[in-house]
Formats: sequence, C-alpha cells, structure tokens
Amino acid sequence: MAKIINGKQISEHIRNNISKNLKSLKEMGIIPGLAVIIVEGDPASRTYVDNKKKACESLGIYSEEYSLSPQVTQEELLDLIYMLNEKANINGILVQLPLPKHLNEKQIIKSINPLKDVDAFHIENVGRIILGDYYLSPCTPAGIMEMLKFENINVCGKNCVVLGRSNIVGIPMAMLLLHSNATVTICHTKTKSIKDICKNADIIISAVGKTKFVTADMVKKDAVVIDVGINRDDNGKLCGDVDFENVKNVASYITPVPGGVGPMTITMLMQNTINAVKLQYKTIFGEELKI
Ligand code: GUN
Repeated sequence: MAKIINGKQISEHIRNNISKNLKSLKEMGIIPGLAVIIVEGDPASRTYVDNKKKACESLGIYSEEYSLSPQVTQEELLDLIYMLNEKANINGILVQLPLPKHLNEKQIIKSINPLKDVDAFHIENVGRIILGDYYLSPCTPAGIMEMLKFENINVCGKNCVVLGRSNIVGIPMAMLLLHSNATVTICHTKTKSIKDICKNADIIISAVGKTKFVTADMVKKDAVVIDVGINRDDNGKLCGDVDFENVKNVASYITPVPGGVGPMTITMLMQNTINAVKLQYKTIFGEELKI
C-alpha cells in the first residue's frame, strides 16, 4: 500500500518558512503585495482566486482583487495590467486563466512585467525555465518538486512520465524534472501506447483533467504517482486523474485529491510573491535583499 503524500502538511512546513521571511521583510518595512485579476464567469476560477486571497490573508501578504465583468475588453484588461506594473506596493500580478475566448491570452500575459509575473507564464520567464536560469518558478510544477524533495524521492536518472502538455503544468513540469536529471517523456492526446509508456515509469505525473485516466494496470509496482487533476466524478465529488483506490495498492507513493498538489500550488504562489520582492529589490538597488 502506497504512502499517501500529504500536501497540506508539506505546505504548512513551507509556509512556516514563508512566515519567517515575511517577518524579516516587515522589520525592513516591506509588505509584499499580490494583485489577482479575475474575469468572472468560471466558478472554478472563482474558487481558486478565493483560495489564493485566503492564503495571502492568513500569511500577511497584502492582496488586491480585480474582479472584471465577462465583457471586459482587451484594452481595459491591458490598461489594468499597465497600471499594476507601475504600482509600487504590488510585487506580483496574476491573471487567473482561462480567459474568455474574446480576449487574447498570449498578449495579456506578455503585458505583465516579467519581474512581477508570479505565475512564471511570461515568455521571458518560460525561456528562463527552459534554460534553467529562472528566479520565478511555475507554481504547480515547483510545488510537485518540493513534495518529491520532502519525501526524499530523488528524480535523478528516473523515468518520469508527464501526462499532459499544458503551458501551466505539463511543459514546465517536464523542464524542472529535466533540470534535476530525470529522463522525461511527455504524453498527450496524440501519443500512442500511453499505457506501455506509463508502465515503464518510475514517476507518473498526471495533468490531464480526466477522471480515472490513470488506472492500476498502467502503473509499475512501487512507482510514484502524482495527481494534478481537479475533476468531478459522477456524484459531483472532487477527484483527480488517478483511480486512487486501485492505484494506491500498486504505487509506493501517491498524492490524494483533494489535499495533494492543490495546497502546494498556492503555497508556491506565496513563495513566488516573496521571490518577486527580492528580484525587484535587486533590480532597483543592485544588491541582494538579505532575509
Ligand atoms: N488556472 C489554472 N491554474 C492556474 C494557475 O496556476 N495560474 C493562473 N493564473 N491561472 C490558472
């Protein structure tokens, strides 16, 4: 039976460290600020944004929410970002995705000051992640790397299979694993023989968005299974991509949904907001902020 990786507990551990950093910053008169922009209309996005705000409140990070109508124009959204790029008490800017179809998501993300891009979605930050020269981490992949580290799971030389090739999870996840010397395979909708590829994996990370996509017969004995999916089952219950009840009997480690990757993503966003403060300080004053 697999060990269930407790994302809440690992998250708490990291948040203790974040609290210490925030205390040091406060002593210097610095309170990190995060602006969260949401274009209303997607109930899941509303829940994620509420959780991000709650995390800021509980840690003592200043936050501002910009709740925009579903009819907001590209120009209005761009103007808001330009304003926030200049706003001194705002260190991080996050635009909750997905955006409605009439908005040009690529252009919106490109308009965020890369030094304030706490999601690490800006083309400059993505390039940095690919090169392994980054200061702002993609939150979900970074959270997963922290989970693996906490459990002493070394990815070096391991066969890692990432299911899904999204810009938010799949692609940056593959990059972080590669920088830690894993052998990485990305599977997607056009991949042939996903089952065989998974069966050979030491670590499977699923970010597909389909209930029970990863079944026990796809998992090698004692593999590590990380579930990024947030889905609803037939009864409306929150669940991941993995058939948890059966896969847990084959895997050595497994993350639950809820209580696995989710809490880590938000905690890494808080960490990135502090990292953004440090980065901006260095850019302005030319020296490291020592906290
Ligand atoms: N939508 C789903 N996940 C994320 C995320 O990590 N950041 C943003 N901005 N939008 C998302």
